[in-house]
Amino acid sequence: MKTLTVEVKHQELQKWVDEMEAICNPERVHWCDGSKEEYAVLCEQLVEKGTFIKLNEQKWPNSYACFSDPSDVARVEDRTYICSRKKEDAGPTNNWVDPREMKPKLKKLFKGCMKGRTMYVIPFSMGPVGSPMSQIGVEITDSEYVVVNMHIMTRVGARVLEVLGTQGEYVKCLHSVGAPLEEGARDAQWPCNSEVKYIVHYPEERTIVSYGSGYGGNALLGKKCFALRIASVMAQEEGWLAEHMLIMGVESPDGEKNYIAAAFPSACGKTNFAMLIPPAEFKGWKVTTVGDDIAWIKPGKDGKLHAINPEAGYFGVAPGTNAKTNASAMQSIARNTIFTNVGVTSDGDIWWEGMTKEPPKDLTDWRGQKWDPASGKPCAHPNARFTAPANQNPSLDSDWENPDGVRIDAFIFGGRRSTTVPLVYQPVNWNFGVYLASTMGSETTAAAFGEIGKVRRDPFAMLPFCGYHMGDYFNHWLQIGRDLPAPPRIFGVNWFRKDENGNFMWPGFGENMRVLKWIIQRIRGKVSAVESPVGRMPRYEDIDWSGSTFTKVEFDRIMEIDREAWKAELLGHAELFERMYDKLPKEYIFMRELLLSSLWRSPAKWHLEPELN
Ligand code: OXD
Ligand code: MN
Repeated sequence: MKTLTVEVKHQELQKWVDEMEAICNPERVHWCDGSKEEYAVLCEQLVEKGTFIKLNEQKWPNSYACFSDPSDVARVEDRTYICSRKKEDAGPTNNWVDPREMKPKLKKLFKGCMKGRTMYVIPFSMGPVGSPMSQIGVEITDSEYVVVNMHIMTRVGARVLEVLGTQGEYVKCLHSVGAPLEEGARDAQWPCNSEVKYIVHYPEERTIVSYGSGYGGNALLGKKCFALRIASVMAQEEGWLAEHMLIMGVESPDGEKNYIAAAFPSACGKTNFAMLIPPAEFKGWKVTTVGDDIAWIKPGKDGKLHAINPEAGYFGVAPGTNAKTNASAMQSIARNTIFTNVGVTSDGDIWWEGMTKEPPKDLTDWRGQKWDPASGKPCAHPNARFTAPANQNPSLDSDWENPDGVRIDAFIFGGRRSTTVPLVYQPVNWNFGVYLASTMGSETTAAAFGEIGKVRRDPFAMLPFCGYHMGDYFNHWLQIGRDLPAPPRIFGVNWFRKDENGNFMWPGFGENMRVLKWIIQRIRGKVSAVESPVGRMPRYEDIDWSGSTFTKVEFDRIMEIDREAWKAELLGHAELFERMYDKLPKEYIFMRELLLSSLWRSPAKWHLEPELN
């Protein structure tokens, strides 16, 4: 494999790499050039090592599957630290350790940790290379899996070093799987450290150090660690926003187009929403994808917010994805894709729960064992992923790589709530919208977060990703609104409300277009709304129901405001506020009171159509 042909002109970078080499003691160092050849050679190496399985070339061209170690299947929030100099800067929602304590601990772990392995140096750009909205990072890793995933998820290579020049700023990202290879020892199929894991951020130094895991957000440091935790700190200091948001374009038949950024907690169907295909009756309406997970949003000279997607690929959850739920995702992953922890057949096909009704025969499950469908065990891990290049998405927005970003006209916030929260509502102004986003919650779906079905407050879907004090973060959002002449409109949605029999009340997926159209018409000032105790709402006739059988009675039920449930909801807000009392915006106390007062005078069950009761 050729190594980088561009000479490294950035002396401080070279010095850092040399220092890390001296500590980690790898067998060799390879500077990544981001080329197709590099990708191909590393994938081949991963096949030889037994990490990758080359998939059937006819069915899944140039694609690979792999199984992780069972101890290494997801982000490890309890091992994730924000090591700011002062504890109060990390705030009550982050794990904190004094950097003076953390650094020596990590230094010990990294000593000799790359023995027997290659140390890869990956220069990468988050955002289009050279865009004024982009940022550069350099990840040092001893994992080939990380290198090939970074090739897809970011822009890697020599052109990044050129932009960095001799003195450019970059984020230092140091990663090791924490599994030194003794001479003559056989490497594990998925090297990692099953006992010790640390995902550490030093926000003041713009540095990330990750040890022990090779999986997803723990190891692909451009994603959650840089683009959210470190970037949120940069954004607060510099007056912009780094958010856990998808970005989508919505175009009406007359050619008018708006862009929306939307935040949903993990496992709430963000990728599906970002790639929404409108129902057939919505002729001429187009939804296009700019990004499916992260948005960097900056105020422009025009007084509007402009956003880029810092990523170049999708690291999406595979289970549940199929031609009906997300046809664009299925096309995005049709080739040049890496699948992690899905089921694999002996002829190089793949499968996961929900991909097709009938599983193919002869499947090996994510644990590498022959899968018995009658066993009750899932074939794919629930957090199985695909890593696919964004430019394979058929609904990719034509401006997705515009270096100046796209103009954001509205924000949408939504959690997974089986009760209480209506299908859609619009807070009366920016401040109430920010309040809504700050207090949003989601019912837990994975046992890892404790009791299933319990509401976990997840402000702005940023709880695991905000690199500083959440109270300061709320204030930052309020300040952004104060500084904009006309801030974007804010909306709340809930696709997950259930009836008394536990059935979802809303069909979701493409049907979400009906709600989206109302939102678009609201921002264009073309449709009215009524006041409810919690904000503005569409009436049944304000929504386009063409081709739908959803009735007025059903709509009325999914929009119901249950006074007592909302009072309990407001108590939940107070609990959250207590946790961040020291930095809570004073406005929040008053906004909570105002909501309480409008609920207090509302009927026990508030309905859009009282006569339907
Ligand atoms: C993700 C997440 O992987 O939010 O995108 O967990
Ligand atoms: Mn995410």
